[in-house]
Amino acid sequence: MFPAPRRFGKPLHRYDALESTNDKALELLESGAAEGTLVLAEEQTRGRGRRDRFWHSPAGVSLYASLILRPPLPASLLPLVSLTAATGAARALAEWGQLPGVAIKWPNDLLFRGRKLGGILAEARGEAGAAALVVGIGMNVNLVEFPAEMEGEATSLRLSGGHVWDREALLGAILAFWEADYDRLLSSGPATLLEAMLERSAHPPGSPLQIDLGDEILSGTFAGYGSSGELLLQEADGSVRPLHFGEIRRMRMP
Ligand code: BTN
Repeated sequence: MFPAPRRFGKPLHRYDALESTNDKALELLESGAAEGTLVLAEEQTRGRGRRDRFWHSPAGVSLYASLILRPPLPASLLPLVSLTAATGAARALAEWGQLPGVAIKWPNDLLFRGRKLGGILAEARGEAGAAALVVGIGMNVNLVEFPAEMEGEATSLRLSGGHVWDREALLGAILAFWEADYDRLLSSGPATLLEAMLERSAHPPGSPLQIDLGDEILSGTFAGYGSSGELLLQEADGSVRPLHFGEIRRMRMP
C-alpha cells in the first residue's frame, strides 16, 4: 500500500490521444495551471524523448503523463526535481509493485536488467524569477512487442515482472512516492534523494563511464553525484569534473 498522493494529479486532464503530454502540460503551465496539474494520455502521436528523440507511445498499453511543478528553488537546483521523478517511480515499482532491481541511469532513465523501462523529460520555463517545470514520464507497461530498432534495448513492466499491470493503480503509486520524494527534497534538502540515486544507480561508484556531451565524449570513472544532481566524473589525471548534462554512452553494469 501507499499513501494517496495529496497534490500530484490534481487536477487531472485526461485525453485519448495527444501529440505529446509534455506539450499540453507546457501550454497549461504557460496559462497559469497550478502545481500538481497532471496531463495523461492513452496514446501519443509525437511523444518526445531527450535530445528530440521519438518516444514510442502506442495506445492503451503504457503510461504517458506530465506533471506541472512550481518548486520554490533556484533554477540551478531544478535538475534535482526531475531526479525525484526517477527515484519516486523506482520506489513505487519496488515497494508497491514488488519489482526490485529497477535501476536509474543518470540523469533519469529507468532500466531493468540493462534495458530501458521508462524515461523522464523535464522542461523548465522561467517566470519572473519563479521557475516552473513540466516533468513528463513515459513507462513501458504492458507492451510485449517493440519496433525493430528498439529490440534488445527496451523492455516493459509486463516483460520484466511477468504479469499484466493495472495502469491506473501504477500511476497512483508513482505519484504518491514521487510526491513524497519531492516534498522531502523541499523540506530537508537533497541528501536523501542523492542517497537513493546512488543506491539505485545503474553503475556502481568507481565504474568506467563514457559521457556524450553532444560535441565531445568524456571518459572517466563514476565518483557520485553533487549537491545539485550533477554527475561527478573522475578523469584520468585524478580531477573530478561535475557534469550538469550529458548522456552516459558506456558503463559497466553492477
Ligand atoms: C527519454 O528517456 O528520452 C525521456 C522520455 C520521456 C517520455 C515521456 S512520455 C510522457 C511525456 N510526453 C512526452 O512527449 N515525453 C514524455
